[in-house]
Amino acid sequence: MNEIYKCPVCNKGLHKDNNTYKCELNHSYDISKHGYINLLLANQIHSLFPGDRPEMILARKRFLHENYYHVLREKLVEVIKNYLSEVTVFCDLACGEGYYTNYIHQEISNNHSFITYGIDLSKQGIIEASKEAKRLKLNNVFYSIGNLMYLPFLDNSFDIMLNCFAPMVSDEFSRVLKENGIYIRVLPGKNHLYELKKVLYENVLFNEPKEKDITNFSLIEQISIEKKVLLKNNQMIQDLFMMTPYYYKTSTEAIKNLNALNELETTIAFEILIYRKTGGK
Ligand SMILES: C[S@@+](CC[C@H](N)C(=O)[O-])C[C@H]1O[C@@H](n2cnc3c(N)ncnc32)[C@H](O)[C@@H]1O
Ligand SMILES: [Zn+2]
Repeated sequence: MNEIYKCPVCNKGLHKDNNTYKCELNHSYDISKHGYINLLLANQIHSLFPGDRPEMILARKRFLHENYYHVLREKLVEVIKNYLSEVTVFCDLACGEGYYTNYIHQEISNNHSFITYGIDLSKQGIIEASKEAKRLKLNNVFYSIGNLMYLPFLDNSFDIMLNCFAPMVSDEFSRVLKENGIYIRVLPGKNHLYELKKVLYENVLFNEPKEKDITNFSLIEQISIEKKVLLKNNQMIQDLFMMTPYYYKTSTEAIKNLNALNELETTIAFEILIYRKTGGK
């Protein structure tokens, strides 16, 4: 069942052998004490801290566990339930610390045959995700460290894939998705975090919708979510800020404005785009 990982060195399938995954050329990858495997080769890492840095993952974990974004994961469960097969193999691409991954799995595997994979470049993210899966006693959830640009999965592995706020690599995604498989893309909506941005910048721009037309995929459904949330203390505001791209490009002056806030009401807005794979490999 769990034989869809491929060896990042030679591209042959990996087979589980006790606490190790091995390919026929005997490249081997140990399962860590938290339960994940590392399928990221040294030359696929582009910085000292590949993916989100540990402090960003921990900020996101604190923020997400306040459940401001629960509305999104509930909607994702609803969407996924519409596209289940007899046995559904699901992948959360760039799953971070597994906030969506573990919840989706828990909600759906109660009544359906559902196998979940989560992958991210960030080791800290994958450690957090695996620990939470263990804490929740989830079965059939498999986490790995890897790069979206070189997914360590065999061709045609997944029925449904999710990409929530992460980079898009269309050829690679289409390769690992089964024919007619479903690709769910979550992007920030037009007004997402508008009020937070107003604290940081003089001229606030609305979010422009990013990719809509993707080679080999046809858009079949689009869902918008928008609501206001109240961030009740400065820590929550800082944590949310660290989750955004603005964290990298905001002046120290603007950060002072943020530090002075004790609460903030802001809009959260998401676009869920649902595609079917209609071409490619
Ligand atoms: C904005 S976060 C979103 C995480 C999660 N999907 C969520 O919505 O909470 C983006 C994630 O993409 C990961 N990431 C960025 N580039 C990546 C790549 N090339 N391969 C795998 N993961 C990547 C980061 O480590 C980070 O966890
Ligand atoms: Zn190999």
